[in-house]
Amino acid sequence: MNFNTDTNSSYIEKQIKSLEKLTDEDRPFTRLVFSKKFYEARSWLSEQFNVLGLSISTDEAGNLIGLLKSNNETNKVVIVGSHIDTVPSGGRYDGTAGVVSGLCLIKHIKENNIELPFNLAIYDFLGEELNEWGTSCIGSRGIAGVLNEEILLRQNSSGKILKDEINKIGGNSKLLNKPLPVVKNILACLELHIEQGKVLEERKIDIGVVKSIPSISRFKVTVSGQAGHSGTILMNQRADALVSASKIITFVNKLALKISKNSNQHFVSTIGKIDVLPNSAAIIPGLVEMTIDLRATSQKSRQEFINTLEEEISSLNNTDTCQINIEDIAFAPFVEMDKELINLFKSSSRSLGFSSNIMDSGAGHDTAQLSRVAPAAMIFIPCKDGLSHCPEEFAEVSDIAKGTAVLYKMIENLAELNVN
Ligand code: GLV
Ligand code: MN
Ligand code: MN
Repeated sequence: MNFNTDTNSSYIEKQIKSLEKLTDEDRPFTRLVFSKKFYEARSWLSEQFNVLGLSISTDEAGNLIGLLKSNNETNKVVIVGSHIDTVPSGGRYDGTAGVVSGLCLIKHIKENNIELPFNLAIYDFLGEELNEWGTSCIGSRGIAGVLNEEILLRQNSSGKILKDEINKIGGNSKLLNKPLPVVKNILACLELHIEQGKVLEERKIDIGVVKSIPSISRFKVTVSGQAGHSGTILMNQRADALVSASKIITFVNKLALKISKNSNQHFVSTIGKIDVLPNSAAIIPGLVEMTIDLRATSQKSRQEFINTLEEEISSLNNTDTCQINIEDIAFAPFVEMDKELINLFKSSSRSLGFSSNIMDSGAGHDTAQLSRVAPAAMIFIPCKDGLSHCPEEFAEVSDIAKGTAVLYKMIENLAELNVN
């Protein structure tokens, strides 16, 4: 039964529009994990699962699951879906496109009474975006068994402990010390996502078949100086933490530029979060805390960056008026997608007449965590001007529908491969 991209587009559009309303009103589009709007979006999603007749559950890691059970007695499962949380002032498609596409896929399967030899589950992976607890991909890390006690015990700025939030939403943090039992039964995890870059749009390619997802490292840099009166302490008497922090910011940018030029692989680093204390025009900054985000496909380049930065910090500590400390706070390893699923995504796209491109992801995704414990792969669809993590983020509904058609073809192909 062919998946009609035209008729399914209106359903996709309607669901995207419903979810975009669930945002903090004063800063669209914001739906931070565990926030009021996030809980509202979860209720909305449960209702959509209900309409589709799916069994609804929340797993130990707090992922919301809608399950379409096969008529065959089987535990085998194919997982689709993505995430419905956003970054602050983010977009309407990052994560949402994959969840809505999963809903549309299941709607098509149900409406056409298509029998599958495996169960099909749609997941809203809990808290994919980097959050106040300094971790991303809470739910998919939980599935992979890599949410350790140190992460679970972290507190946010209002003292809320991560594991308490996971338990409140329906998880069970006591059972997160190893991969969840479901991993034994996963035949494939398939995620559709917007590209968040410009490659597909510029080359007019329908589908990006992801080959790898870079390692993501985050470091907290603390610069300690001395707060004081901005009018009385003379320029040569200061230990201005922001001035010293600016040296690190410039150094990180130049170093990443140099390494990325010398390597022909994906390599980027950003300092996008900075807190200045006490943050007053009349006070010399006494303390700066900032986060370095580092994404690398080559682990040799990653190590070169870390070593050079550590050398620079230790040299600054010998000469500067402030003390600089760097601490490793998060890491997700470089992963490659399942080769058979990559090939199947390629042939599924081709059989539908869609052009495709094998590419590396620049962003992190739940699929990266899942690929540590199960066969996993993902596809990208184009997004306008490559913009993402900002309110301007936009994807054509017709492109989401094309991606959903590819997902459906994958399900058909996997069904053929798994009839027993
Ligand atoms: C996920 O959105 C990331 O930061 O790559
Ligand atoms: Mn995402
Ligand atoms: Mn994101």
